[in-house]
Amino acid sequence: MVLITNVSDYEELAKQKLPKMVYDFYAGGAEDQWTLKQNREAFSRILFRPRVLIDVSHIDMSTSILGYKISMPIMVAPTALHKLAHEEGEVASARAAAAAGTIMTLSSWSSCSIEEVNSCGPGIHFFQLSVFKDRDIVQQLVRRAENAGYKAIAVTVDAPRLGRREADLRNRFKVPENVVFKCFEGLDLSDIDKTNASRLAAYVASQIDSSLSGKDIEWLQTITRLPILVKGVITAEDARIAIECGVAGIIMSNHGGRQLDYLPATISCLEEVVREANGRVPVFLDSGIRRGTDVFKALALGASGVFIGRPILFALAVDGEAGVRTALQMLRDELEIAMALSGCMSLKEITRDHVSTEGDRL
Ligand code: FNR
Repeated sequence: MVLITNVSDYEELAKQKLPKMVYDFYAGGAEDQWTLKQNREAFSRILFRPRVLIDVSHIDMSTSILGYKISMPIMVAPTALHKLAHEEGEVASARAAAAAGTIMTLSSWSSCSIEEVNSCGPGIHFFQLSVFKDRDIVQQLVRRAENAGYKAIAVTVDAPRLGRREADLRNRFKVPENVVFKCFEGLDLSDIDKTNASRLAAYVASQIDSSLSGKDIEWLQTITRLPILVKGVITAEDARIAIECGVAGIIMSNHGGRQLDYLPATISCLEEVVREANGRVPVFLDSGIRRGTDVFKALALGASGVFIGRPILFALAVDGEAGVRTALQMLRDELEIAMALSGCMSLKEITRDHVSTEGDRL
């Protein structure tokens, strides 16, 4: 039996275990997958500037996100269809996130319902919202999330159209009949055959509103008391617009390299956005985080926390809830060691001086 020592081991095992079509759907990026690769490579170009001779006998990784105390600055990103990985789907991921003392974000494209996930046990949940042309559907999703007890809405803004993921095209990716898009249950979706997951997915994808703008973000704030995060900003210009619209935070993301190819890694754009935010709202980051050292680097460059996508899916595929717990624990252990070896007892002590970027070394 292979001893799993880091989250990438889960990807290897999941590749062996999952049907090729599902593995490729989870793992793949858009077109040439340049951004997908950059998401890893960019982290390897950031080096440590550790401090020693500092008491690191007690490390505190806890933090507060939108007023909610969590045990570490590592959260679960919204990803579609967890039931393709494991029969318990998002419920297993949510339980594992809660056990790790962190936040789980449920996708609009989930295979367990909004209500099921929030009632599966204790835990802090955010809801990722895809904005559809039909605003009644948007209102219903937001109301359900609010009523079920979700704590924030993360509006995805980098997907007015779906990126071209060529592996899915080659595999003729289809959602198996036994997996259902639960968040769309109970919604009035005209006369679409809701039992045919692939047809439903194609229909709902065609209903994504590609005219989404700052006005819609302002409107969303009028229909909910939940804080709104925007997910998918990578420039200072868009950060400024989002902040002017009143958002509670920014999630920097390139969708894990699945949308526009030849975007830089988010970690390479982080300082630009943090500078623009200037402490007015927290800036979070996802895309390519696979190590505790990556988390440390993101915090050093100004992120308030990070979200993890694919490692959760692969760990879920290999060992269900226990797999996701272990993946989160491994990232936590790695971050703890990175902090200890850099001379940081708490997240507040992680500073820009603890890392050097390529720019610094010129
Ligand atoms: C995603 N992502 C995503 N984002 C979103 O806002 N709504 C969604 O439904 C999905 N679905 C989804 C499915 C799959 C299979 C993947 C891999 C990703 C993007 C996700 O939230 C996150 O931005 C990336 O996964 C982060 O990159 P890493 O951690 O996977 O490298």
